Amino acid sequence: MNNDKHIYTIFGASGDLTKRKLVPALYSLYIQNLLPDKFIILGAARSPLSNEDFREIMKDSILNSDEIEEKSSVNKFLEHLFYIGLQYDNPEHYIQLKEYLEKLRTKFEIPGNTIFYLSTPPSLYKVIPVHLAAAGLNKTSDGWKRLIIEKPFGFDLQSAIELKDLLLKDWKEEQIYRIDHYLGKETVQNVLVTRFSNGIFEPLWNRNYIHRVEVTAAENIGIENRGGYYDAIGALRDMIQNHLLQLVGLIAMEPPSSLEPLSIRNEILKVFQSLRPIKKEEVAKFAVRGQYISSVINGETVKGYREEKNIKPDSKTETYAAIKFYIDNWRWGGVPFYIRTGKRLPTRVTEVVIHFKPTPHFLFTRKNIQEACNKLILRIQPDEGMLLEIGIKTPGAGFEVQNIDLDFRYSELAHQRIPSAYERLLHDTIRGDNTLFARTEEVIEAWKFLTPVLEEWANNPNVPLYGYPAGTWGPKEADNLFEDENQTWRFPCRNLTNSNLYCEL
Ligand code: NDP
Ligand code: BG6
Repeated sequence: MNNDKHIYTIFGASGDLTKRKLVPALYSLYIQNLLPDKFIILGAARSPLSNEDFREIMKDSILNSDEIEEKSSVNKFLEHLFYIGLQYDNPEHYIQLKEYLEKLRTKFEIPGNTIFYLSTPPSLYKVIPVHLAAAGLNKTSDGWKRLIIEKPFGFDLQSAIELKDLLLKDWKEEQIYRIDHYLGKETVQNVLVTRFSNGIFEPLWNRNYIHRVEVTAAENIGIENRGGYYDAIGALRDMIQNHLLQLVGLIAMEPPSSLEPLSIRNEILKVFQSLRPIKKEEVAKFAVRGQYISSVINGETVKGYREEKNIKPDSKTETYAAIKFYIDNWRWGGVPFYIRTGKRLPTRVTEVVIHFKPTPHFLFTRKNIQEACNKLILRIQPDEGMLLEIGIKTPGAGFEVQNIDLDFRYSELAHQRIPSAYERLLHDTIRGDNTLFARTEEVIEAWKFLTPVLEEWANNPNVPLYGYPAGTWGPKEADNLFEDENQTWRFPCRNLTNSNLYCEL
């Protein structure tokens, strides 16, 4: 048990994220005995809710959560939940919040340790921390204070720098935790373990043996009820600027000297600093964008993006983005990285594919070079696991070669539950471990890298936005990113033993 007694304050507590992810994750920590014996979860938002209303909403969400099996302790857990109504921009309300926190502390014998989690629209990341500080709620004399910021951190390079500077006026860097929930995923952390706990991969993990690296984060859902948010953001900002570049950081980093947070984060930062800038005039060669259009999936008509709720009928926001880039350092010089993400693709899958180079001399007949290249596939989700594709002799006469999969699935590990990303990250915020949180410099470098693409897409009407029918793998023009015209993206599917087959269409 962690005995850092504290109050976990969540702003925007009436919202979707709190209900679907944050409170279920805290409950999950509670039943594993990972919360201290004394803790309070304090919801704060504008909606006029009583403690009882808040508890009822959270109870429903815990009972309906697929991520939790043991639900018998819900009522006991709910006793730790409280709610306060406030206006985010009213200084008076922060004084009331401070008084309420003190009241709860006295009543439940909790020291000043407090977490402030901003689960609100990003526009409030500039507002809430300033008011908290003005009320003295950033002061650590009576216990630690931590500020947790959801993504997106900024809208572009300039706003991210402004937000960084604004926060650092009142908060120390070590008090700020920038959540990127991909870093909380078990399989994302396993990239580190696979690379650095096995002697066999690291010697091959470089430009001498790796031909290219591919990362896919496909979603079959559309934008659901998040139109208001998404239409201003798009796929590049929503997924690539944060989640997928962080994943690249772990794939490409040098071995850290230790597991100390700074040591790992320094190595990730160096990767970001080595990203070769994409020139404005080269954007079309390095980045492709698309937007889903209406189609029929499994007999049902699916709306196009522009017909979705809260989307402008002439919106140019991309729901698909693919980019190619290089990391200019000794390990990766010349190795292309390809990243793609999209909504309304055929399936939900996130995976990393390491394409190794072929053998220097072909002893055995192979249909094509592609077939002769080993692949290591790190399956981030779903069906978490890892697959190595190798060639073996086809039984019988001659020396026919066929590819087979050495396939590991986490589900095959007995009694191993994969915790949700939020569970891991929220636990780390309580323990004060910021290893798995994005550091300011990384966020800034990521914005810097993507700025030419963002600007070209926003300002140059000649950059095409390709339509792709919902339920397909995005614009075929994304294939043009590859250096060799015979190359294409790997088409992942759940049944990975039939690698290269489409599925779930
Ligand atoms: P919501 O849109 O549900 O907003 C959260 C709460 O903020 C609302 O309940 C509302 O509370 C308050 N709010 C909403 N709009 C405004 C507004 N215009 N002005 C002031 N307050 C407002 O957001 P989510 O819960 O979905 O997400 C929270 C944050 O987490 C966002 O920054 C999002 O980008 C990020 N995020 C969300 C994910 C998700 O799956 N939902 C995944 C990853 C990140 P009230 O009116 O009661 O004050
Ligand atoms: C969020 C994005 O950060 O990540 C969403 O805002 C996206 O648009 C989600 O759907 C994907 O997360 P996961 O964990 O389902 O891959």
